[in-house]
Amino acid sequence: MSTNSSKKHLITAALPYANGPIHIGHLAGAYLPADIYVRYLRLKGEKPLFICGSDEHGAAITLRAKKENKTPQQIVDEYHTLNKKAFEDFGITFDIFHRTSSQLHHKTAQDFFLDLDKKGAFEVKKSEQFYDEDYKQFLADRYITGTCPKCNKEGAYGDQCESCGSSLNPTELINPKSTLSGKPPVLKETTHWYLPMQNEENWLREWIEMGTLEGKKHHDPKSWRKPVVGQCKSWIDGGLQSRAMTRDLDWGVKVPLKEGDGKVLYVWLDAPIGYISATKAWAEENDEKWEDYWQNEETELIHFIGKDNIVFHCIIFPILLKKHGEFNLPVNVPANEFLNLEGKKISTSRNWAVWLHEFMEDMPDKNDVLRYALCSIAPETKDSEFTWQDFQARNNSELVAIYGNFVNRSVVLTHKYFNGKVPALKQFPHEYQSVVDQMKSHIDSCTQKLENKQFREAQNEAIAIARLGNKFLAETEPWKLIKTDEEQVAKILNLSLQIAANAAIALFPFLPESSRSLLKMLGLEHVSWSDLASVDLIKGGSKIAEAEHLFSKIEDAEIQKQIDKLQAKAEPQNKVEVDESKIEPIKKTIEFDDFLKLDIRIGTIKAAEKMPKSNKMLKLQIDLGNEERTILSGIAKNYSPEDLVGEQVQVVVNLAPRKMMGVLSEGMVLMAESSDETLALLSPNKKVSEGSKVS
Ligand code: 2FM
Ligand code: ZN
Repeated sequence: MSTNSSKKHLITAALPYANGPIHIGHLAGAYLPADIYVRYLRLKGEKPLFICGSDEHGAAITLRAKKENKTPQQIVDEYHTLNKKAFEDFGITFDIFHRTSSQLHHKTAQDFFLDLDKKGAFEVKKSEQFYDEDYKQFLADRYITGTCPKCNKEGAYGDQCESCGSSLNPTELINPKSTLSGKPPVLKETTHWYLPMQNEENWLREWIEMGTLEGKKHHDPKSWRKPVVGQCKSWIDGGLQSRAMTRDLDWGVKVPLKEGDGKVLYVWLDAPIGYISATKAWAEENDEKWEDYWQNEETELIHFIGKDNIVFHCIIFPILLKKHGEFNLPVNVPANEFLNLEGKKISTSRNWAVWLHEFMEDMPDKNDVLRYALCSIAPETKDSEFTWQDFQARNNSELVAIYGNFVNRSVVLTHKYFNGKVPALKQFPHEYQSVVDQMKSHIDSCTQKLENKQFREAQNEAIAIARLGNKFLAETEPWKLIKTDEEQVAKILNLSLQIAANAAIALFPFLPESSRSLLKMLGLEHVSWSDLASVDLIKGGSKIAEAEHLFSKIEDAEIQKQIDKLQAKAEPQNKVEVDESKIEPIKKTIEFDDFLKLDIRIGTIKAAEKMPKSNKMLKLQIDLGNEERTILSGIAKNYSPEDLVGEQVQVVVNLAPRKMMGVLSEGMVLMAESSDETLALLSPNKKVSEGSKVS
């Protein structure tokens, strides 16, 4: 086990937008894994710097402010305070939780922009965008409404119609109106600063695929999660393009140039610079040098994020850092997939979420339990699901019945038979060597998994120590043995307490509050990761405190109340949140002949069934007029088979057949995928005959 190194660690967690509260998906996605890792590093004796803060800019914030008749500053003040407290309540131990509305941040981001501008990193380009002449302001897509060109409903936004769900361009709207003045906007030329990412493809590819930077080894590419590498490769393969780094908006970090009047830096040149400004603020307060964390190659930079921010942190931000030239690039970006809730995508706008501040009001003593339950289902390699029933089961059958029970028995029996004094042993009880060996093996695996950032498995190994102790007590039955062999009982309880101490240390990164209570009960204060595997942690003869329950049972009624609350507050809306920064760029232009190579037809789904052992794939029978085909489609999370029969869909019929999961799939069903990964089939808006051509 490596216990110390001279390396510094800079750990960042994605800056949450200060326009809404934090929910369990956020916690499971970035903040909990980051905190577990940081706590582990600290226990190893290292001094990682753990950075986060509120992302307080963006059109969504100004829009919310307008809707609520408040200033943007009022909105971000409110949510910054709420979210900071939620993180504290759940034991997320940032060294600093900074704010991007701070002056220090504005200056840092502007200096960064100016440095890049001086180096010629940007292309300055003109384009036409909607402008409100009364308000003398360019309009973000959401500030324009009009009649939807697809469904003819009024009130569609410039980026999307919430009635029919279509994605739109503001110029497509019929009778567009500015939401500011209510008048039709005009098209007006505007200038923006673009980052030509296409020039960066070569080194990016090498850095992501081989872990080399300028010919030198930078990181081990095998240590990166496969979906992260996969998403980066697919972006690079799709062709990188110029993206605008500025916006016409009056809320945000102002573009620090005369020609930039009325413009702000877009999220890509704002939020991640927040990591740097937060480090500066921390360094100022702590008499440290921020440069040690960002500009010293010995420091390991790791970004914890959710998968919607992969491109941002693995492509865009690294390009900016490299262009600047004096900053480290991340050695890892352990992004998590999404967490679903009770069978559905978590949705802020539909209020389908468990909000941390509400959880804390309803279950004030269950914050550790939520950490435990979320880590048990951490979406590290694929999407996963939180259900209240699973939460209850993790608490009742694991934390209460195993860990809590083991600790309670060990402590209660020590009080009962030995007056609360840890029985002193003359020598180690060799008859129990195999139990200690098993404990050591769990500790080694736990350490290995933590190093690899596989937190879900690491927690399994840590709780296995408590499980081992519980089994040890159940098998040795000291409560029976006490009548005949007190000496043996002394050995059993001594070892049980040592195992409990090991469990408390190994579980500390995951369950900090209960570990702290247990360590206190056992009279241990200052512990470190290197104490693990010892069976002499609590000295014989020392007094331990009275038993206290680490966890308490959750009744069915309490769980039902939460399920009812979720259902009652959910809003049935036909609305998907749009986050412009997450929309994929348009691929390279193709020739008309290339398009003509695709043969797309309308077919009717005749039968649909779930593929065994897959929660994603459905097997569809599709009638194409003159033939019927079997096609596999990854839509099981969005549609149940019975909903699909009779639906007309678009099918690419000349795609080479592919064998998947033992079935030959003869074509592809087309669908739209929104940035939250909701899938929607593309059906014609009136019935047409099977086999109709799509062109
Ligand atoms: O996507 C988001 O939540 C933004 N607030 C950006 C987060 S990443 C960042 F901080 F760099
Ligand atoms: Zn519409």
